[in-house]
Amino acid sequence: MDNQSPKMLSDEWNSTLYQEKHQFVWQYGADLLDLLNPQQGDRILDLGCGTGQLSQKISESGAKVVGIDSSAEMIAQARLNYPNLDFRVADAANFSLEMQFDSVFSNATLHWIKSPQAVITSIKNALKPGGLFLAEFGGKGNIESITTTITSILKESNYSQVPIDHPWYFPSMEEYVVLLEEQDFRVNYATLFERPTPLTDETLGMQNWLKMFTQNWLTNFSEPEKQDIYQKAEDKLKPLLYRENTWFADYVRLRIMAYR
Ligand code: BEZ
Repeated sequence: MDNQSPKMLSDEWNSTLYQEKHQFVWQYGADLLDLLNPQQGDRILDLGCGTGQLSQKISESGAKVVGIDSSAEMIAQARLNYPNLDFRVADAANFSLEMQFDSVFSNATLHWIKSPQAVITSIKNALKPGGLFLAEFGGKGNIESITTTITSILKESNYSQVPIDHPWYFPSMEEYVVLLEEQDFRVNYATLFERPTPLTDETLGMQNWLKMFTQNWLTNFSEPEKQDIYQKAEDKLKPLLYRENTWFADYVRLRIMAYR
């Protein structure tokens, strides 16, 4: 979805499904918090905060956290979950806040936005000079089995509306570092790594994932058509991504640490 984070398809995001079945999104993000190392009194922006779990963890350090997400539904749920935190609806590619931050933190969000330069500009404006931008998101090769499989199902199908291109931005490390350096960021650390991610619900793991995350790709399809696509995708993906009674998504993460 252009200009929209995972959690950024406001009306189409199902915050209940997200919260109940996709805990791994923020559970893996907890890893990143060690690198963030938030300190008492730091101002930290959680960009693409979803339902707020990582914002809460960051705030436990004593840091002052603002969480933003373009999904009003996610923000409503975040406010219910953590009423003491500051959550706002905002577009990652075009936001400006009244304060500047020591760090901008972003987990599993930036692959949803196909205008990375605009995101980087907004982040730069949000940071104090010398401030840290720490992010992890899908990089080159991310969910390649899934995107290739769905693309081939769409090509083979008789559906009239066939949006072939997937809606995500999965840059290589080199590409993203250049974009940051073009806006005068000092890149301190960048890495691309495979992280096969178990989808823990044994029988519905892949179906739930597809239902949650391909809505904006398959928007023109009816519910029965989507069910048909999910079923075909599951059949084709089983030999690739199902082992030991568990589905795994073939995630590849790009992790970046850069200073303004
Ligand atoms: C990801 O976290 O890598 C991701 C999630 C949903 C769709 C695409 C990528």
